[in-house]
Amino acid sequence: MSATAKKTAPLPDDILAMKGQTPIVSLTAYTTPMARLMDEACDFVLVGDSVGMVLHGLNSTLGVTMEMMVMHGQAVARGLTSAMLVMDMPFGSYEESPEQAFRNAATLMRETGAAAVKLEGGTHMADTIAFLVARGIPVMAHIGLTPQSINTLGGYKVQGRDEAGAALLADAHAVADAGAFSVVLEKVPANLADKITSEIAIPTIGIGAGAGCDGQILVVDDMLGLFAEFKPKFVKRFATLGDGAKAAINDYAAEVRARSFPAAEHTFADKAPSK
Ligand code: KIV
Repeated sequence: MSATAKKTAPLPDDILAMKGQTPIVSLTAYTTPMARLMDEACDFVLVGDSVGMVLHGLNSTLGVTMEMMVMHGQAVARGLTSAMLVMDMPFGSYEESPEQAFRNAATLMRETGAAAVKLEGGTHMADTIAFLVARGIPVMAHIGLTPQSINTLGGYKVQGRDEAGAALLADAHAVADAGAFSVVLEKVPANLADKITSEIAIPTIGIGAGAGCDGQILVVDDMLGLFAEFKPKFVKRFATLGDGAKAAINDYAAEVRARSFPAAEHTFADKAPSK
């Protein structure tokens, strides 16, 4: 490939084929400018329902609606040419029945052009995953800490420790057997994530699941240091953009109050300058 040739976006089958190969790189995005920044570097970009907490100030993902997801999905799609777009299914949009899941997954794909959807749940969602896949909807599963279930999980705890590991392993097998093309493992002990990764035939995408997964994902605002409400242990801050933005805003406020901004170079004269 020449240095200027652009890669085309992978399809779910291409992501599947990356199992055990080069680690799969992914991030969340919610806006066009952020999508543009990560397009080249990522294999896929997820419009996560984390948008509710990160951009809308909600205290969980439970209040995220289909309308919010469609709007942010369309924005992200405008910023992507070489990464695959995956849309998260929001709470209440797929759990009731496979038919409900199909209707809403089809809406997300039709309205955003996404190549796949992601939904939370293991064994109990396997029938729904199989129903969607049989009807042309590639599904990324999400097990371990599933934030839409925090009220039944008892908070944002590590999942699959001790005896609970067997159930999580069964979840991983169930979603793989149902036809999911990949599975997110969130907040799972690394040794269990390694076992899952070695046993199932689809790529595992880790977030707080150790370095042995087939790929990694982070919430972009977390890794850029833009979302400061809390920092889970699994987040590495690759930048501190929030601090930089706050300092810039404080400088701006001080200059406005001191009338040193705008300066002459930011100001228009009455007459056009002579050439
Ligand atoms: O909503 C989200 O951002 C996610 C990722 C954390 C995997 O589901």
